[in-house]
Parts: sequence; structure tokens; C-alpha cells
Amino acid sequence: MQLLTKASVVVFASFLGLASAQALNSTNGTLFWFTPGLGACGFTNTSDQVVASVSADVFNNFPGATPNPNDNPICDHNLTVSYNGTNVTAPIVDYAPDASESYVGFSPAAFEEFESTDAGIISGVEWEIV
Ligand SMILES: *[C@@H]1O[C@H](CO)[C@@H](O)[C@H](O)[C@H]1NC(C)=O
Ligand SMILES: *[C@@H]1O[C@H](CO)[C@@H](O)[C@H](O)[C@H]1NC(C)=O
Ligand SMILES: *[C@@H]1O[C@H](CO)[C@@H](O)[C@H](O)[C@H]1NC(C)=O
Ligand SMILES: *[C@@H]1O[C@H](CO)[C@@H](O)[C@H](O)[C@H]1NC(C)=O
Ligand SMILES: *[C@@H]1O[C@H](CO)[C@@H](O)[C@H](O)[C@H]1NC(C)=O
Ligand SMILES: *[C@@H]1O[C@H](CO)[C@@H](O)[C@H](O)[C@H]1NC(C)=O
Repeated sequence: MQLLTKASVVVFASFLGLASAQALNSTNGTLFWFTPGLGACGFTNTSDQVVASVSADVFNNFPGATPNPNDNPICDHNLTVSYNGTNVTAPIVDYAPDASESYVGFSPAAFEEFESTDAGIISGVEWEIV
């Protein structure tokens, strides 16, 4: 398993003239696709459903993570991936044990919002847990 340091990019949105600065904690990483099944969150999903996974590091270090992955609060969150001007949001249902921390996964139905699964991976995506 590769251990990469997390490349977090914090963007301050104060230039938008918002009353208070809003931090968007997006990470520049790589999107892969996976075949959903019974995931770490305890849901059973299928390839035609729009669902997401994160690395084991992100999953296990999420605030409030417990020994029982089904109870991990990340399971109540979505993953938004931005690529080439398109954002796709999907509920987080699983983690990928071998994925580097900057890697995130989409089911085929979600991945295909960007590219055919024939592409395998898409590098240079921005992602954020929302
Ligand atoms: C961004 O990250 C910081 C520190 O990890 C956190 O305090 C803040 O709530 C996050 N902001 C958003 C919008 O998630
Ligand atoms: C994932 O599976 C669960 C049942 O295990 C279901 O409730 C949920 O709606 C599914 N998610 C999507 C996006 O279809
Ligand atoms: C995740 O997305 C679903 C479907 O759009 C939405 O109902 C839910 O509120 C979102 N959850 C969070 C934490 O943003
Ligand atoms: C990015 O999107 C534009 C149109 O929205 C499309 O023409 C182009 O092929 C896309 N580029 C990639 C690398 O997918
Ligand atoms: C995509 O999400 C980013 C932040 O995560 C946001 O700045 C951008 O406006 C969104 N783009 C669209 C087309 O919704
Ligand atoms: C993500 O990182 C790659 C490699 O460092 C870079 O080429 C690309 O422009 C970055 N993409 C974004 C959206 O910042």
C-alpha cells in the first residue's frame, strides 16, 4: 500500500463577498471506479447506483470513527468530485483498503458521469467530503 501525504488544498471563498469566509477543503486526487456490494457502511449497493468510496485512511480517520465501520459517521456523508467543470455527488458507502489517501472511488454509474469505465482512472480531480 502506498502511503502518500495528504495534499489538501484549502480555498478561502471570502473573495465571493460572503459574510464569513467559507473554507472548501478539497483535495486534488485520482478517481477510480469500483463494483459496489456489501460495503463497510453495511449497505448493499449495485453498479447502477450512484455511490462512492474513500481510502481506508480517510475512512478510519474521519471524526467520530468507531471500531464498527457500520457506525462511522462518514456513512452519513457524500463525496463530491469535480472534474472538467462537472460536479458529481454520491453517498459514501465503503472504503478501498489499498487506495492511497488522495484516491476516491465511484460506482460505474457515478464514474460514467465523467468518462467511460474503460478509462480506468481519472487523475487531477478535485474531491471533497460534504
Ligand atoms: C475545513 O477543515 C477545517 C479543519 O480541518 C475544518 O475546521 C472546517 O470545518 C472544514 N470546512 C469545511 C467546509 O468542511
Ligand atoms: C445503497 O443501499 C442501501 C441499502 O443497503 C439503500 O438504502 C440505498 O438507497 C442505496 N444507495 C443508493 C444511492 O442507491
Ligand atoms: C447527501 O446527498 C443526499 C442526496 O442528495 C442528501 O439527501 C443528503 O442530505 C446529503 N448529505 C449530506 C451530509 O450532505
Ligand atoms: C471536458 O468537457 C468538454 C465539454 O463540456 C468536452 O468537450 C471535453 O471533451 C471534456 N474533456 C475531457 C478531458 O473529458
Ligand atoms: C463544484 O464544486 C465546487 C466546490 O466543491 C464549486 O466551487 C463549484 O462551483 C461547483 N461547480 C458546479 C458546476 O456546481
Ligand atoms: C492537480 O494536480 C495535478 C498534478 O500536480 C495538476 O496537473 C492539476 O492541474 C491539478 N488539478 C487541479 C484541479 O488543481
